[in-house]
Amino acid sequence: NPNYLKMEGSSGLQQVSCRAKGGAPGFKVAILGAAGGIGQPLAMLMKMNPLVSVLHLYDVVNSPGVTADISHMDTGAVVRCFLGQSQLEDALIGMDLVIIPAGVPRKPGMTRDDLFNINAGIVKTLCEGITKCCPNAIVNLISNPVNSTVPIAAEVFKKAGTYDPKRLLGVTMLVVVRANTFVAEVMGLDPREVEVPVVGGHAGVTILPLLSQVKPPCSFTPEETDYLTSRIQNGGTEVVEVKDICKSWGGIGNTINALDSHIKIPQAYAAVKFADACLRGLRGDASVIQCAFVASQVTELPFFASKVRLGRTGIDEIYPLGPLNEYERVGLEKAKKELAESIQKGVSFIKK
Ligand code: LMR
Repeated sequence: NPNYLKMEGSSGLQQVSCRAKGGAPGFKVAILGAAGGIGQPLAMLMKMNPLVSVLHLYDVVNSPGVTADISHMDTGAVVRCFLGQSQLEDALIGMDLVIIPAGVPRKPGMTRDDLFNINAGIVKTLCEGITKCCPNAIVNLISNPVNSTVPIAAEVFKKAGTYDPKRLLGVTMLVVVRANTFVAEVMGLDPREVEVPVVGGHAGVTILPLLSQVKPPCSFTPEETDYLTSRIQNGGTEVVEVKDICKSWGGIGNTINALDSHIKIPQAYAAVKFADACLRGLRGDASVIQCAFVASQVTELPFFASKVRLGRTGIDEIYPLGPLNEYERVGLEKAKKELAESIQKGVSFIKK
C-alpha cells in the first residue's frame, strides 16, 4: 500500500505484516477534502459508522497525519490515506459513496457564492475522477456554493456520459439540523423529536424552512416565523461571524481559536447524518427520507432541495413540496429567483 509506505517514511515506523484483515462487511466510502475543517471531524465520525468497512481519506495536503490519527480508532473500518492529485484515482476506485467537503470555507463578509471561483474548479477536478473510477458511486456534495457545485458536478458527469441524477445529492442537511434545533428551542421541545422540512437550496433566501409542515405540528406567531426563518437562513453566517470575533480575542486563546476557527463540527455531524441515511438506503432499509438538493421536477428549476427517499440506487423518490402558506409561497418565489442564477452559473462554468 503506497499510502502506508508514505506514512512509514515520515514516522519511521516499520510495517509489520498484519494478520487481522480487519474491516467488517459494509460500504466503501471516500472523503475528498479529508484534512480540511469539515473533513477531519467527518473522517472521525465516518470511522465510527458501523456501515463503513473501508474509508479512503484524500486531500492535497496533510492527509497522512489525519489518516494516522483516525486509523488508531478501534472501530471496524479500514482507513487508507491518499495524498495529492496523482492519488485521486486510487482513492476513488471501487467506492460506493463519495463525500466531497473539499474547497475553501468563507470568511466574514463573504457569501457562499464568493467561493465559486476557487471551489468550482476543485469540484470539477474531483468529479472528473469520479467519472473515471467510480461512476456508479453515490456522491454527497458539500463544497459551497452547493447551489452551483451540484449543477457543475451534473455537467461533468453528463460530459463523460456517466450522469445518473439519482446518485448526485447536494448536502443541505446542516440547515435541517439547525432548523430542528432552533424550532425546538422556541417551542420548548426535544430537538430529536422535531422535523422541519427545509427546501430550496443552501444559501440565504434559497433556504426555505417550511414551518407550516413541522412535526410535531406547531403553530408559530408571525414574530416567531420571522425570527426562525431568518435564523435558519443565516445560521452559516452566524457561525462564521462568531468564530471571527473569537479570533480577535487576545492571549493564548488567540492562537488556539485561530487554529480552531476553520473546524466545522456541526457540518461534519450533518454530513454524517446524511451519509448514514444514504448508506442505509443502499443497504435496502425502508423509508429513509431526508432533504437534499437534487435534480428535480418539483419546481420549474432543474435542481431543487426537497424531501427525497433514499434506496439501493440512490434517490428512489422525490416528494412534492406539499401545501405552503402565504409566507412560504412568497419565500419560494424569492428562493427560485436566486437559485435559477446560481444553477445557471454552475452549468455555464462547464459549458463555456
Ligand atoms: C454552513 O451552512 O455552515 C455552511 O454552508 C458553511 C457556510 O459558509 O455557511
